[in-house]
Amino acid sequence: MHDLRQAGAKAAEIMADHLEGVAERPVWRPVPDGELAWLTRQELPETGRALDELLEDAREHVLPYPMGNGHPRFFGWVNSPPNPAGVLIEPLAAALNPSCAGGDHAGPHLERTVVRWLAGLVGFPHPPGGGLLTSGASMATVICLATARQQAALADGWDAREEGLSGRPPMVMYVTEEGHSCLHKAAQLLGLGARNVRLVPVDATYRMDVRALRAMIAEDLDAGLRPFCVAGSAGTVNSGAVDPLDEIADVAAAYGLWFHVDGAYGALGVLADGAAAQYAGLERADSLALDPHKWLGVPVGCGCALLRDPGAARAAFSLVPSYLVDENAGDLGWFAEYGPEQTRPFRALKTWATLSYLGRSGVKRLVEHTTGLARTLGAMVEAAPDFELLAPVTTSITAFRHTPRADGLDELNRAIPVAVQARGNAFLTGTRLGGRDALRTCILHPDTTEQDLVVLLDEIRLAAKAL
Ligand SMILES: Cc1ncc(COP(=O)(O)O)c(C=O)c1O
Repeated sequence: MHDLRQAGAKAAEIMADHLEGVAERPVWRPVPDGELAWLTRQELPETGRALDELLEDAREHVLPYPMGNGHPRFFGWVNSPPNPAGVLIEPLAAALNPSCAGGDHAGPHLERTVVRWLAGLVGFPHPPGGGLLTSGASMATVICLATARQQAALADGWDAREEGLSGRPPMVMYVTEEGHSCLHKAAQLLGLGARNVRLVPVDATYRMDVRALRAMIAEDLDAGLRPFCVAGSAGTVNSGAVDPLDEIADVAAAYGLWFHVDGAYGALGVLADGAAAQYAGLERADSLALDPHKWLGVPVGCGCALLRDPGAARAAFSLVPSYLVDENAGDLGWFAEYGPEQTRPFRALKTWATLSYLGRSGVKRLVEHTTGLARTLGAMVEAAPDFELLAPVTTSITAFRHTPRADGLDELNRAIPVAVQARGNAFLTGTRLGGRDALRTCILHPDTTEQDLVVLLDEIRLAAKAL
């Protein structure tokens, strides 16, 4: 234990040095061959090594090669820097090392609070037991869609868990072309079949075309299929668009469909001043995915599945063998009854610490700051003759492209992200939007400034010139 005490103090120093120095180092750089060899080819030591040596190795071979998301000029995908409270508290979760499957210990009790806080932040109804923490939104989505699938089967008088899906009319789900890939993966994993995931067209602002949704459902019903779920997005990954959730909720209610909302990234955007109207209808969803490891900066991985009816998730997952029976579990039972994981890590501690450190006002400030910068970037892009804004800025994502010439813009914009990344001064990623190759930024870092946006546009220009 003496070793751990000493090495722990040193680990704290290394951690603080790393975080303090992030902004001075390249945002990202490729792992050099020598280091790659260390990372990938080392042999398992025959005899155990000292704690102190492990720290030295991590300092020398691991910390210098980050993904980049700790840096204020990291704008790629949807990856936030770690919140300091989350970083601080993570080792304590490891020190306790519980399984939060359930039981009467701190982990599951704290998870109930954290889930309630998350639901409260975005105004989602929270009956006791109405949610659980997951590895991320991909797993939250599996839980929500599996729940929807079982509810649809039960409503039709059969049991999908017992019988499987064969011999039944295909269940059909509706997402927009902008829906995240995790919705498709979940549908495939659950045996629904990729061909039964309908791509609903979007309008000019990349929001679901609800008239088209209605028409597609009607057509599928006529064809003898079983429409069962519509998934809207509260913040798409490409442009940050928020679907017309209220209208989608109306359609779901009219046809008896499960209404899922993917708010993994964007649900917290509801906290920005003036944003509430845009999110109207979120509170009508049957399920909502919301990732603490995105906008909040809870260290990866922590997602959350929120459910209007906790009993529905339990009906989809509960399986308690004799060796897991807990007579004292109470009405809600164990978290493990609400999803596929049995042994579950103590995700609640880092989420509790992050939320407590920020407070409601801190979360709101973070959302205001990052959405404000995304709008500023949108305005800078619109004002620049060599850039074009591709979508309205509604959350903290800005979708645009570089237009220094008339031809070959798809090719140019497809090549820009890697070229910018290689320069090490900023990091952004690309996508395709409305049939065009696009650049997109997602701002999640509390320390990003307007000057960083100036640097970003200059970096894009410089990288493009060299292509
Ligand atoms: C809108 C959206 N939904 C879902 C996901 C999947 O989340 P996770 O990577 O936590 O599984 C992401 C990831 O970036 C996302 O941006």
